[in-house]
Amino acid sequence: MKIAVLGTGKVGTALGTGLAAAGHQVTYGSRTPSIEAGTLSQQDAVTVAEVVITAVPGTALADTLRDVGADVLADKIVLDPSAAFTPEMAMAYPGASVAQRAQASFPRARVVKTLNTMNFAVMVNPLDTVPDATVFVSGDDAAAKTVVTGLLADLGWPSRAILDLGGIDTALATEHAAPLFFATVRALQTAAFNITISR
Ligand SMILES: NC(=O)c1ccc[n+]([C@@H]2O[C@H](COP(=O)([O-])OP(=O)(O)OC[C@H]3O[C@@H](n4cnc5c(N)ncnc54)[C@H](OP(=O)(O)O)[C@@H]3O)[C@@H](O)[C@H]2O)c1
Repeated sequence: MKIAVLGTGKVGTALGTGLAAAGHQVTYGSRTPSIEAGTLSQQDAVTVAEVVITAVPGTALADTLRDVGADVLADKIVLDPSAAFTPEMAMAYPGASVAQRAQASFPRARVVKTLNTMNFAVMVNPLDTVPDATVFVSGDDAAAKTVVTGLLADLGWPSRAILDLGGIDTALATEHAAPLFFATVRALQTAAFNITISR
């Protein structure tokens, strides 16, 4: 698939590299595009893509999508792994979800929240650290979730690990797992773990 990765940081690079290795056509969109870095403007990257990965700070997600423009974003699939924090690493929008807000602001886009409950290295190497990891998926569009689930499989996620929580409203729950994630990092002194739902 043609995939635009917005954000050239840790998550964008990890997901872009992993999906390119799986055979996808990955284009990076940056606020500072450069020929040397092989990056386009965010808008140009989205223009040629079928799937847009928003690997930007959650606090910048709304502005990023606004700058891309509703007509360019259109009805593309938006895979959103973002999280929104204050400079002190507290929840930026307690009681609200950046993915749900993005879906409300861009109703034609098909937003799927996923991969936001783990460290970037685990996103692309899911079973290396934990044999029974869980990755959550939230979104209103069933077809978009099927595409995203396929991309997760390409990154190494077995179907038993993928838990579809339901609509984009359920992204509120996974975005609010962030304090649990950081408390666990502090307790274990490592980010090489994941959340497992067992039953
Ligand atoms: N790191 C993790 O393990 C992890 C885990 C789960 C979720 N997340 C979430 O995933 C998203 C990306 O995380 P990351 O670790 O890749 O962050 P990062 O290393 O800081 O990279 C973020 C990238 O976003 C782009 N960006 C666009 N608007 C920005 C703005 N206003 N301020 C700063 N950067 C901006 C930048 O790329 P350009 O300069 O090229 O535009 C930047 O390199 C965040 O929402 C984060 O909370 C991260």
